[in-house]
Amino acid sequence: MEEERILDGEELSEDRDQALRPATLAEYIGQEELKHNLNVFIQAARSRGEVLDHVLLYGPPGLGKTTMAMIIAHEMNGNLVTATGPAIQKSGDLAAVLSTLEAGDVLFIDEIHRIPRQMEEILYSAMEDFFLDIVVGKDGASAHSIRLALPPFTLVGATTRAGDLSAPLRDRFGIVLPLEYYSQNELEQIVSRTSGILESDIEDVAISEVARRSRGTPRIANRLLRRIRDFAQVYNEGVISQDVADDALNRLKVDQLGLDRVDRKYLEGIIYRFSGGPVGVEALASSIGEDATTLEDMYEPYLLQTGLINRTPRGRIATRKAYEHLHIALPDDTQNAYVPVQDEEEGE
Ligand code: ADE
Repeated sequence: MEEERILDGEELSEDRDQALRPATLAEYIGQEELKHNLNVFIQAARSRGEVLDHVLLYGPPGLGKTTMAMIIAHEMNGNLVTATGPAIQKSGDLAAVLSTLEAGDVLFIDEIHRIPRQMEEILYSAMEDFFLDIVVGKDGASAHSIRLALPPFTLVGATTRAGDLSAPLRDRFGIVLPLEYYSQNELEQIVSRTSGILESDIEDVAISEVARRSRGTPRIANRLLRRIRDFAQVYNEGVISQDVADDALNRLKVDQLGLDRVDRKYLEGIIYRFSGGPVGVEALASSIGEDATTLEDMYEPYLLQTGLINRTPRGRIATRKAYEHLHIALPDDTQNAYVPVQDEEEGE
């Protein structure tokens, strides 16, 4: 069985622990610009007595898209109905979800980019005009469509790949909000808040250490904190000191920049198998035995953000920083090993 990856962006059951999720915008740490704007839209819709316009949340996994959907429902006093793109494959699946909605509800569709294109059409008429056309009867003469009116609702779509949505669907979201990686300071506040909720005894230096090694991602910070807390319980009477945190993180194979084994395999793959790049993601993925989509969605965004790789029109390259971080000697021809950030292709 494949071992569980601690840095994996997939949600595990303990991540859903409601106690750790902030319930209101005021409690939510970070994403300041997003919160400010969203708060305006919520206040305005509420004062007009309308539902909030449809919201698209996009960004790498673990940054709080689901939490934000829950907060929107809470702040709008609506029920949250949840669905996922992969579970909506037939028009019946979508009709089943939409027909449960009541006025003012928030329908959250996670991984909305995985809804088939034909379903998108049904969805956007539901979004725009609040009706649903469903075909009843068997093929042939008896088949006809009936129109169901839907109550006013807010769709909150979440995706790691905004570019994979069709333009007409994307255009039906009046509010489009990108989630960004969190700063060291914000992650420290989150780790401190979570430690308080978990009633763990953690030193300030250990808080900083966990924050620094969480790749800008609250989900990872909280997950690492739980595992470090286990080490502290067994080895240090429950006290999370810097030594305990550092030792636990090393045992969990989380390095000083927060990289895990897959990140390192990715970088070593570019450097050793493709001479530092450029290499296409498909070729790299098959050479290291990983899935290209997983690499693109879960690993590359952070490697790009920290400047360990660059994307060029010809593919990915490892930067000087990657060689230095892995203690690999730079090749004599360093042409490929360091590309200043401004050379990165726009909008890729
Ligand atoms: N827990 C996870 N993410 C959080 C956030 N952004 N603010 C507060 N607590 C969190």
